[in-house]
Amino acid sequence: MVYRAADERYDAMKYRRSGRSGLLLPAISLGIWWNFGGVDSFENSRQMLRRAFDLGISHIDIANNYGPPPGSAEETFGQVFRRDLAPYRDELIVSNKAGYRMWPGPYGEWGSRKYMIASCDQSLQRTGLEYFDIFYSHRYDPDTPLEETMGALDTIVRSGRALYAGISSYRPEQTREAARILKELGTPCLIHQPRYNMFDRWIEDGLLDILGDEGVGCICFSPLDQGILTNKYIGATPADSRASKHEWGDRLAQDKIDKVIKLNDIANERGQNMAQLAIAWSLRHPEMTSALIGASKPEQLNDAVAALNNLDFSDAELTRIEAILKS
Ligand SMILES: NC(=O)c1ccc[n+]([C@@H]2O[C@H](COP(=O)([O-])OP(=O)(O)OC[C@H]3O[C@@H](n4cnc5c(N)ncnc54)[C@H](OP(=O)(O)O)[C@@H]3O)[C@@H](O)[C@H]2O)c1
Repeated sequence: MVYRAADERYDAMKYRRSGRSGLLLPAISLGIWWNFGGVDSFENSRQMLRRAFDLGISHIDIANNYGPPPGSAEETFGQVFRRDLAPYRDELIVSNKAGYRMWPGPYGEWGSRKYMIASCDQSLQRTGLEYFDIFYSHRYDPDTPLEETMGALDTIVRSGRALYAGISSYRPEQTREAARILKELGTPCLIHQPRYNMFDRWIEDGLLDILGDEGVGCICFSPLDQGILTNKYIGATPADSRASKHEWGDRLAQDKIDKVIKLNDIANERGQNMAQLAIAWSLRHPEMTSALIGASKPEQLNDAVAALNNLDFSDAELTRIEAILKS
């Protein structure tokens, strides 16, 4: 059946400005790192992308290497785009990245101009898109001059392959330098994509201040710590969870679960579930533009968007959360 987007798709979502740019992003964005690969059910991936768009999640985040196999998440997105979302291209923000290994030899990863531009062209081909809205340097390359990597992003934007440039997981001082170079080139850094959640708070130690100063937005990935910050692991590990499908080793340590049990009580007092608390908490900084979640089922997207019903925290709640996290 032909897909027609929900008329009420903008009713529940909140949109936030990315830094001092002109671009608004949904407070919740969807990434397709897992569950959209060639090994996954196409129909489920398609239903998740449709549901996201129907809920006002207008931003989809991709990278060249998402799958498995690498590149296949781009192909899945491309197929869904052609079948369902193409009429809505101007209502969508699609990002892509290059930095991790994609092909053999010295030009298949990191931050050289050679790799960045070839990878962007491959990604356009696999998705079938004419341009990406945001193109990222996926990781800082210690062996390539930052001018070269940022120059490649500038070329990608100026040549029309992307509209905006971003960086991912750059440390505070690398970020300041990247923002300076991009500003000089006339392609300001739109956004930084760092990992951030209740168990990984490195961005509070300088990065957020720099982003605020520089007027760069922030979209945090893994706000649910890949699902640990939900109530799914409080009991026995569900068979269809990410932890069951992947070798997680000690990621699911009992001390984390003990904290989640206590945090879950606070969530319930706020009229939320654990996932909603974790998302709302990650969005509490004024510099935070969007929480970039993953999903394995369409219903998880409804769950996430309901977090927006309560984004305010009292000082007492924040103090209690802090005490649990630091215990
Ligand atoms: N820039 C980078 O280097 C980088 C690195 C990693 C990720 N990312 C981006 O960030 C995106 C999100 O990362 P992530 O997948 O780790 O995010 P996440 O939101 O922390 O974890 C998503 C997983 O949590 C579970 N989940 C989600 N909603 C749930 C709910 N309401 N209730 C119970 N479980 C729920 C699902 O796993 P189950 O399978 O268990 O259901 C889902 O796949 C990626 O897709 C990618 O776009 C970027």
